[in-house]
Amino acid sequence: MSKILVTGGCGYIGAHTAVDLMENGFEVISIDDNSRSTTLLAEGIAKITGKPYKNYKVDLKNFDDTRAVFQENADITGIIHFAAYKAVGESVEKPLEYYENNMEALINVLKCVREFNIPNFVFSSSCTVYGSPDVVPVTEQSPIKEAESPYGATKQMGEKIIRDFAHIASTNTVLLRYFNPVGAHPSNQIGEIPLGRPQNLVPAITQTAIGKLPQMVVFGADYPTRDGSCIRDFIHVSDIAHAHTLALQYLLANKNQSKTEVFNLGTGNGVTVLEAIKAFEEVSGEKLNYIIGARRPGDIMAIFANNQYAVDTLNWEIKYDLKEMMRTAWAWEQKVKKEGLLTTAQKSALN
Ligand code: WQD
Repeated sequence: MSKILVTGGCGYIGAHTAVDLMENGFEVISIDDNSRSTTLLAEGIAKITGKPYKNYKVDLKNFDDTRAVFQENADITGIIHFAAYKAVGESVEKPLEYYENNMEALINVLKCVREFNIPNFVFSSSCTVYGSPDVVPVTEQSPIKEAESPYGATKQMGEKIIRDFAHIASTNTVLLRYFNPVGAHPSNQIGEIPLGRPQNLVPAITQTAIGKLPQMVVFGADYPTRDGSCIRDFIHVSDIAHAHTLALQYLLANKNQSKTEVFNLGTGNGVTVLEAIKAFEEVSGEKLNYIIGARRPGDIMAIFANNQYAVDTLNWEIKYDLKEMMRTAWAWEQKVKKEGLLTTAQKSALN
């Protein structure tokens, strides 16, 4: 059984990917310092798969502690690197923390990849590397423009570091550029747990609908789009997760055509913020309490993916539509409330 190391394996996308990997026959271990995640999702993974999920609670900025995990697991055949801070707005307020955390963690992991000759490496990248595109949908060849935030800059730099490393190493690499991951696993055992007030649209919608937030603000409805609100490519987190399994299988089968390959992970459908809210209202039967407010600094007007290369090359099939994304997100929010899954720390952060 091939052993995969997932960094950030207790986080939203990391946990969903761990489930998909385990359901596809991989053994999975995680490194996650739980600074931005809880053990809750690790428990959920074990419930879904019926298998134990080992997380090493290690700060990847500590090279010796990180190296020790590799020393203990000499049979790692692939790595998926999720561990990073990822709030666009926060990165503008705390640039040094973002550059230090996201770059130091990546470099320490790559130093271990080099020392232990790990053959396959998948990187959690982002459509934010495109900046504000002149043409949509974006392909993997669309221009990489000035990053709109330090978060986006860390993803652009991460991709460059990995390319330069792969050029001299025996490791084959894949960069996966996510669009907007949303929703929760259909089992409702894992989902998104934002620490503090949610930055992203869908958790803001579900937390408003459940009453955790008094009201939601639509950040701008005066954009030159079909209804004035921004356009995004929302994609179910389980579709994103399965693409990681496919990318690893692609590398393990030595099908890659170069040392570093890039794939857009989006549905290819542009959806406006107001359309997303409408889809939620239809699915949940809830009338969302929102107002139209000012534009959010750093937001781009429209971005969505041309995902054909990932569909054709990885045989990737999108399984979840927008209503299913909203349905699973809402079911998870209702479970979090019903079972009081928010820890005390998170509750105090919310108030
Ligand atoms: C989406 C739209 C907001 C909250 C995300 C991730 C980033 C990257 C790309 C992976 C925008 C609007 C939001 C609210 C709103 N993904 N909005 N009211 O900015 O596209 O970035 O996807 O790497 O990591 O953060 O996502 O959900 O914050 O915003 O009107 O309360 O929803 O203005 O137009 P974004 P988002």
